[in-house]
Formats: sequence, structure tokens, C-alpha cells
Amino acid sequence: MENLLEVKVAERLEDRGNILRLKLVGKEDTPLPPFEAGAHLDIQVAHNGTDLWRQYSLCGDPSEHGAYQLGILKDQNSRGGSVALHEVAQQGAELRISSPRNHFPLDETANHSVLLGGGIGITPILAMAHRLHHLGRRFELHYCTRSKGLTAFLDILADLPFREAITLHHDDDGTQYDLTTLPKPDDGVRIYVCGPTGFMEWIIEGARAQGHAEDHIHREYFNADVDVTGDSFEVEARASGVTVTVGPEETIVAALAREGIEVEVRCEEGVCGTCILDVLEGTPDHRDHFLTDDEKAENTEMTTCCSRAKSARLVLDI
Ligand code: FES
Repeated sequence: MENLLEVKVAERLEDRGNILRLKLVGKEDTPLPPFEAGAHLDIQVAHNGTDLWRQYSLCGDPSEHGAYQLGILKDQNSRGGSVALHEVAQQGAELRISSPRNHFPLDETANHSVLLGGGIGITPILAMAHRLHHLGRRFELHYCTRSKGLTAFLDILADLPFREAITLHHDDDGTQYDLTTLPKPDDGVRIYVCGPTGFMEWIIEGARAQGHAEDHIHREYFNADVDVTGDSFEVEARASGVTVTVGPEETIVAALAREGIEVEVRCEEGVCGTCILDVLEGTPDHRDHFLTDDEKAENTEMTTCCSRAKSARLVLDI
């Protein structure tokens, strides 16, 4: 596993909408690595006797070093990581995290950026707005939530030097975001979206329909309802010299684990990319939200926590 950092909770605030805001600093006040706008980190959290790793985007100003700011939605429908974290991340609590990584980078050369955050998806979007403001780049930020009473970060937004660039949209008061207000497709325009899957797909489909190029629509999924089931298939782990059958209800990761072959996982739902393996033969059935459409079409790598096979047999490089 890559570099891990020991941190402690310097500030904890329970905000509206079941969102816990945390400020993490180095355990011994040791400096923390810098991060880029759009980056996330993984937090280790113990749940039911196992260690889970959950991903959370950094929402602070990337130019301010020394602390990581996070927003964590308590999701009762999740597999338990966020609920456990709401309990254990008390003031002064010590946590283990990964170094920040960025799968949602900002194109800092764009003439105009449209930043769209749905609910807790506002977190990486806020860091992007800080960065664009520092660069003096033109941008607009739209923060979409179900209702104002469930909207977190309002106190922070009101104090930001770029608050004029922010528009709030709520489902229950007729202020929903209007897709027709997206700027016209142009080489200098970039669109960034993060939030619940339905919200993201609505924005992405709308932007595509208006003619925005696929590589101008940037996205980050927090979690995904991914169907990991399907017909059985064989996986040969070539370097290990082992072949396993992946059952209809089983993942490749689980089938390999039966034979003692361990694949590192984090999100286990196709959004973080930790479990990617190279494909040597066969055709994957990509179910993840991590690889781009072009990468999926190449079929040279796949996520093994959720994706399956279109061919009867896959050969993987492990
Ligand atoms: S563990 Fe995150 S994509 Fe597979």
C-alpha cells in the first residue's frame, strides 16, 4: 500500500444534511503533503471487525497547506464506512489516511469552467473553485441540493471571496439548475460534475446532447449502484499459475481470494481504480465508473471488484 499518513481531527462540525465536516492535521503536527484541486484521500475506518477504506474529496483551498478539510455524508444506505466514521472521528481522534490522489484534475488553461456539485459532491468542486479563483480564471459554480435546510457549507460559501460566482439550486423551491444555461460548446469551455449518480448522469447526458465534447465533461463518482452479478466465467491468474471460476454472485476479487491471491481493494464499487489489473486475453464486461470509455474500449485493463467478462475466459496479469 502506498504512503500512509497519521493524522488527528483538529476540528469537527456537524453540518446540515447529515454532513460531518472535518479538519485533519498531522498527528504530531507534522506537515501534510500538498494536494491538487479535485483530489481525494482514503480514510481507514474499522467496521464490524474489518478495516474499510473510504474515499473523501478534499474541499479546502489547495494553496493553504497544513490541513485537509473534508465533508462526509452519513449515508445510512452505505456499507457502514461513513456511519462508523461519523462516530469515531471525534475531536482529537487519530486516523490513518492515504496521501491525496487526484483522479478529477482541473484543466487550468480553460477560458471558462462550469462547476456543478450535487449534495456532498460539492466537496471537490469547492477546491476547484478556490484554485480557479487564485488563477484568475473565469468560472461559475452551481451547488444543487434537495432543500436549503439540508444544505451544508452555507457559512463557508457566504464568506468566500468568489461568492458572486456561486449559485444555489434547491429541488423544493423552484430554483433547480437549468441545463439550458450551460454555455455553448467551445474548445475553451470545461464542465465538471460530482454528486449522486442520477444527478451526474442528468448533467452528462444534457451536456452531450448540447454538443459538448466527451473530454470536456469531467466527472467524479463518489459511489455507484453497480450490479456485480452475471453468468459464471473463468479467470486465469497467469503469473500465479491459477485458474478460478467466478460464480454468478461472486466478484473476480472474491474468486481469486479463495485461491489465496489477494487483490488490493478500496471502494469495492468501481469508482476508485485500486483493484485494476491488466487484461492479457479475453473481453471484460466493464461495470465501473473509473475507466474512461476509451480505456474500456481498449480492453487492456479492468476493475476486478465489480467488472465481469463477456468472454468465457479472462487471463489477468497477477
Ligand atoms: S476497489 Fe475501487 S474500483 Fe475496485
